Amino acid sequence: MISDLKLGEKMEQPCLVRLQKIGTSSNGKAYAKGLLEDNSGCIPFICFEAGPIGRLQKLEEPRPMKVGGSVDINKYSTNMTLQIIMQKAEAVGPEDDISSLLPSGGIDLEAYKKKLDELMAGIKNPGLKKLVATVLSGETYQQFLINPAGMRLHHAYVGGLLHHTVCVAELALAMGKTVGGVDADLVTAGALLHDVGKLKEISPELGFPYTTEGRFLGHIAIGAMKIKEVAGHIDELKPETLEQLLHIILSHHGDMEKGSPVNCKTKESFIVHYADELDANLNQFHKWESKSSWEYNKMLQRYLFKS
Ligand SMILES: [Fe+2]
Ligand SMILES: [Fe+2]
Repeated sequence: MISDLKLGEKMEQPCLVRLQKIGTSSNGKAYAKGLLEDNSGCIPFICFEAGPIGRLQKLEEPRPMKVGGSVDINKYSTNMTLQIIMQKAEAVGPEDDISSLLPSGGIDLEAYKKKLDELMAGIKNPGLKKLVATVLSGETYQQFLINPAGMRLHHAYVGGLLHHTVCVAELALAMGKTVGGVDADLVTAGALLHDVGKLKEISPELGFPYTTEGRFLGHIAIGAMKIKEVAGHIDELKPETLEQLLHIILSHHGDMEKGSPVNCKTKESFIVHYADELDANLNQFHKWESKSSWEYNKMLQRYLFKS
């Protein structure tokens, strides 16, 4: 397991390989660098061997490979973290067990599924209730239970989207209660559907790669289009309610600089946006890759402290 590796050890195991760069060092030697992952953690690697570099060169997406090498200090990192000096990288065969490569968030998925069902059942507005139940039904519902919410940044594990969605809805409802004068049904429906477009944006396969549709359209637009399409078949849903819901979906990143086509203009949209941001930020504390109290966090671009 990656999280158990210690300085000076040799390692050989299937890993998910993310190639970051192939280049030439100052002495003219070719090198490849990137990240190795399994469900216990992630470690950078560097490779100077021609054979593995040739195989790594062909990787367009993160791929599982049988990796061998030794654990060394990463001299270029500011806090002397470990890295793998890769000597071997081979294709995995059918005999290799790669089930340990899909990251699990260590959360109780059944408990979150129950909370999701309760939140859906708690919506009183008949139009919104039917809309949410229709969007999250059949295959979409099943996929919603296992998909990650991010490729790497936050909730990047099996069930991450479910975990994130339930937390956003609970936080948003609590905020709405304190603030007062807030439409709880709109907040719930908005929170539950805010990232539904991620089902089409990010694939649940190994490495959670972005899909072509996801790269072209993004989850905000995909989600809004899906909701609009489903809403067309729901007579109980008033046009002004649909408009308010679509506004929550489209503005949930808060500002246009953060990818939303419109910024928040209603109480409910501000609430869902801040609940979303808070939950994504606090999820950075969910899994620590290093064992020290301080860890540099790429998403937030700062060191975070584990107490
Ligand atoms: Fe989002
Ligand atoms: Fe989100």
